Amino acid sequence: MRHIRRIFDLEVEEAESLIKRGLELKKRVKSGIPHRPLTGKILALIFEKPSTRTRVSFEAAMLKLGGETIFLSARDLQLARGEPLKDTARVLSRYVDGIVVRTFGQEVVDELAAYASVPIINGLSDKFHPCQVLSDLMTVVETGRRLEDLKVAWVGDGNNMANSWLEAAALFGFELRLACPEGYDPDEDVFSEARKHAKKPILLTRDPVEAVKGADVINTDVWASMGQEAEAAERRQIFQPYQVNQELLQHAAPGAIVLHCLPAHRGEEITEEVLEGPQSVVWEQSENKMWLHAAVLEYLLA
Ligand code: CP
Ligand code: NVA
Repeated sequence: MRHIRRIFDLEVEEAESLIKRGLELKKRVKSGIPHRPLTGKILALIFEKPSTRTRVSFEAAMLKLGGETIFLSARDLQLARGEPLKDTARVLSRYVDGIVVRTFGQEVVDELAAYASVPIINGLSDKFHPCQVLSDLMTVVETGRRLEDLKVAWVGDGNNMANSWLEAAALFGFELRLACPEGYDPDEDVFSEARKHAKKPILLTRDPVEAVKGADVINTDVWASMGQEAEAAERRQIFQPYQVNQELLQHAAPGAIVLHCLPAHRGEEITEEVLEGPQSVVWEQSENKMWLHAAVLEYLLA
């Protein structure tokens, strides 16, 4: 029984085969060939935060593979009235075959995993967004690029996405350059752990141009993540020099692609021109969440 609490829960071979399988399932299921390995299985989704893509793509993937889902807003569970996570984990494990959780604290994901007897999948915590980065890498592979040859730039907040990109860079052995304003660096432990295992350079800079120079993949995310709404105005000032715009893109490798996990804030972390421009692959990227999640569910639940 496996959990995906973070990218480092996976061996590189497992992560590679999830990406490969995501691409296969995309072709196969879209061509109309029935594939229902999850018939009779139930996936629960416990969400403490809003979600469009992660929720719907996990539910749709489960339905496409023949399974069923139960969506649980955290405030409707007895959790909201103080029932311990360890009790919730053991009770739900007797009803369902897997649980996706979206939460503020990574410790919630970790505690559920410690007590559950079914796979726990992190659908975003304040610290990590592992399945998002796996599907982002699937999108990169789909463009014909080899992961070990990549130069990836991260521009903006050193948030949950940045932390998962750090783990991915170490796991797959690609180069990663992050440009974050001072005070908004990725998690220190994640950064040093990633660097310890890295086969290619992992660099943190204050200069977006240095990060983007020659990069094949340019990546950004919101400046104020869910739960940081009170800091949004201050962050808008601080992060202004970190906008992904056409001028910054000039420094990337020719034909570089732009990723954004969405939701996007046009005119803040990314311009309309770049988001809707020819180098942006964000719509394919959002679709690929569903196929990568299908591969994850098939692997963990079938
Ligand atoms: N990218 C992503 O996780 O989007 P949602 O918040 O809509 O799930
Ligand atoms: N960093 C963002 C990602 C949203 C998918 C957040 O945590 O809100």
